[in-house]
Amino acid sequence: MSFDLAARLATRRAENLYRQRPLLESPQGPEVVVDGQPLLAFCNNDYLGLANHPQVIEAWRAGASKWGVGGGASHLVIGHSGPHHALEEALADLAGRPRALLFTTGYMANLGAVTALVGQGDTVLEDRLNHASLLDAGLLSGARFNRYLHNDAASLAARLEKATGNTLVVTDGVFSMDGDIADLPALAREAKAKGAWLMVDDAHGFGPLGANGGGIVEHFGLSMEDVPVLVGTLGKAFGTAGAFVAGSEELIESLIQFARPYIYTTSQPPALACATLKSLDLLRSEHWRREHLQTLIRQFRQGAEQIGLELMDSFTPIQPIMIGDAGRAVRLSQMLRERGLMVTAIRPPTVPAGSARLRVTLTAAHSEAQVQLLLEGLADCFKQLGPEPSDA
Ligand SMILES: Cc1ncc(COP(=O)(O)O)c(C=O)c1O
Repeated sequence: MSFDLAARLATRRAENLYRQRPLLESPQGPEVVVDGQPLLAFCNNDYLGLANHPQVIEAWRAGASKWGVGGGASHLVIGHSGPHHALEEALADLAGRPRALLFTTGYMANLGAVTALVGQGDTVLEDRLNHASLLDAGLLSGARFNRYLHNDAASLAARLEKATGNTLVVTDGVFSMDGDIADLPALAREAKAKGAWLMVDDAHGFGPLGANGGGIVEHFGLSMEDVPVLVGTLGKAFGTAGAFVAGSEELIESLIQFARPYIYTTSQPPALACATLKSLDLLRSEHWRREHLQTLIRQFRQGAEQIGLELMDSFTPIQPIMIGDAGRAVRLSQMLRERGLMVTAIRPPTVPAGSARLRVTLTAAHSEAQVQLLLEGLADCFKQLGPEPSDA
């Protein structure tokens, strides 16, 4: 008996789906050094440009001096320290919910929330383009698991008709590989009509969306009755790491009792919570970051349309260019890199078969001149590669 990993890896290569990790040799930001090469990057999720902000770094330093480095234990033993608690209170305020609970990663927040809320005999309904962590959470929960058509409230309603037990409807807020946003008012209406709960993972919405960075629920003005379970992550627009679930007193107490990925893990370093408290301050108060980002998004979309690129229906910092064929997407990404531009090719299984794309992300740390360089690079590379051979 053998696992024959070599054959699996060879197949992956032959399908143009082999993944490699670029080695970052500088802090995160528009200008990076990757594998020894200076590049202008359009692929991180540091949407507000806070990952390398001097005040955030200083808060981390001061936090480490005061609180040490390690969390030391799980939250329920003796790992729940002052900065964790203060951060939870500040995040609850941002989310407009009574309470929030801090998790070590977004992946764990999603696993924890879904598996604590539904199990055998229950139902979990998910958008078919949800992030992998949400899909994994649904499968792991043991509840009846079903996916509805992307952002389609009628498709959700049809599945709600057949749902049994406690029913959780789960969606990304901003879809991570497409950049479009969930039609939350319609989804919330359907869920409420059937007594189901709506859970929204707004990993990519907190920060860029909402007048104060409160994400998609602030954007739509939705209450806790509309969205009882709200998840945010801290590794994207907050520029740090970790995640939170926000909701009612009862929800948070239930997660503390029953969410295994919360209970059975060491708390994040308290100094990290100090850094996030600072970045949260900046995220809420420095509106120019959101405004500048919107200017760049408009500039990019106008320029890309002039070149004739196929954009997606997105007004968020995630601006994918649809390519289709995985090999072609990888080739374009390589050509851009030869010109000093870094844009990641996203391929199946991260996205559905035949929908490989270049995932451009813009941040408040980019300048208009840098976006112009990207547009010029894209125009040249698409011209050089020529049109896609048709099947006819
Ligand atoms: C929509 C979404 N949810 C959750 C996660 C996971 O968050 P984390 O990186 O903190 O594990 C990600 C990406 O990382 C994401 O894009």
